[in-house]
Amino acid sequence: MAGASGLDGIVAADTVLSDVDGEAGRLVIRGVPVEVLAAREGFEGAAARLWEGFVDDGLDRAKVLDVLGRARATAFAHVDKAVAAGAGLEPVPALRAGLATLPDLAGFHPAYAFTAAAPVILAALLRQRNGLAAVAPDPSLTTAQDLLRMLRGKQATSAEAAALDAYLTTVSDHGFNASTFTARVVASTQVGVGPSAVAALAALEGPLHGGAPGPVLDMLDGIGGRENIKTWLESRLTSGERLMGFGHRVYKVRDPRADVLKGAVRTLSRDAGRLAFAEQVEADAIAILARVKPGRRLDTNVEFYTALLLEALEIPRAAFTAIFAVGRMAGWTAHALEQARDGRLIRPLSRYVGPRPKEAA
Ligand code: ACO
Repeated sequence: MAGASGLDGIVAADTVLSDVDGEAGRLVIRGVPVEVLAAREGFEGAAARLWEGFVDDGLDRAKVLDVLGRARATAFAHVDKAVAAGAGLEPVPALRAGLATLPDLAGFHPAYAFTAAAPVILAALLRQRNGLAAVAPDPSLTTAQDLLRMLRGKQATSAEAAALDAYLTTVSDHGFNASTFTARVVASTQVGVGPSAVAALAALEGPLHGGAPGPVLDMLDGIGGRENIKTWLESRLTSGERLMGFGHRVYKVRDPRADVLKGAVRTLSRDAGRLAFAEQVEADAIAILARVKPGRRLDTNVEFYTALLLEALEIPRAAFTAIFAVGRMAGWTAHALEQARDGRLIRPLSRYVGPRPKEAA
């Protein structure tokens, strides 16, 4: 039945932005393997690659670092309105509402404006939940350094900033996932980058996409201790539940981003016991999934170690998906621009299987 297919295996467009090889477990972003990008170029380097030729020509990490920093400072002038729009909402809808209020930031391409505004608005929203005033950005910092600083009101350690930078880089783009496809559908109407990114954020929120890392921690908490791992996992699978942080539509082997993030968690090493426990859960889950779901090839996805990384950075669970959006904004904006420039209006057909009008007697 076509409606149940989820468009598996359908190529919906050509893109120069990223390549997900699900059989080999490989992710390449604009020609560079994700492991290399995270280790050598960081989030601003990834954005420079993604935006090259779409936002500007001759982009490099230094230029993007400079412009994003200045755009954060400019976006801060609009933060009160954005926070008011998101008041009382959970972080993702609040960020969506906040971003929707963003006016044109004069002198900044919308890709810069939205990628800069996301961490500024998110940090202010999360502080407001705790009754704290927003902290102004520091344009000289990287997005990762400044996001942690705006969240906490003080500078993060270099290891913490490096770990968040690795995370933002790792999730900056990933083929035609649900949120990116959403961005491209919206961009194909020529509405512009901002609304395309806001729409993408709605798609990211679901637990089958970017909403899994919070529930991964709920799972680790629910299991409690090593002695419970196998029984807990088996009982959930028997009752038809899915294990969060496992399985992927495209990857049939381990998600390459999981190892980048696991490495980053290890550098923080705040709680080595927590990581060892998670590794045991991971190993047992993979073994049990292979037995309970034979032939499905269910392995660890990006969300498993995302959860541990963001927990080690003391980011509140409810904000995990919104932090994901800060990184993915680089990819959404690039895809929106590629679609608007090179694509056509996306307008597929559906097959009508509902009731037919009754013929006149
Ligand atoms: N736990 C248990 N069973 C699973 C899991 C899982 N995590 N993932 C898939 N399966 C099973 C399904 O129950 C199904 O079994 P069945 O054929 O016996 O009914 C089979 O594997 C295929 O499942 P589909 O839903 O067709 O696979 P799909 O490609 O649509 O799903 C998805 C991919 C949504 C990521 C899925 O693996 C899942 O729900 N994982 C858990 C949630 C999660 O980790 N989400 C984050 C994904 S990463 C990201 O988007 C950033």
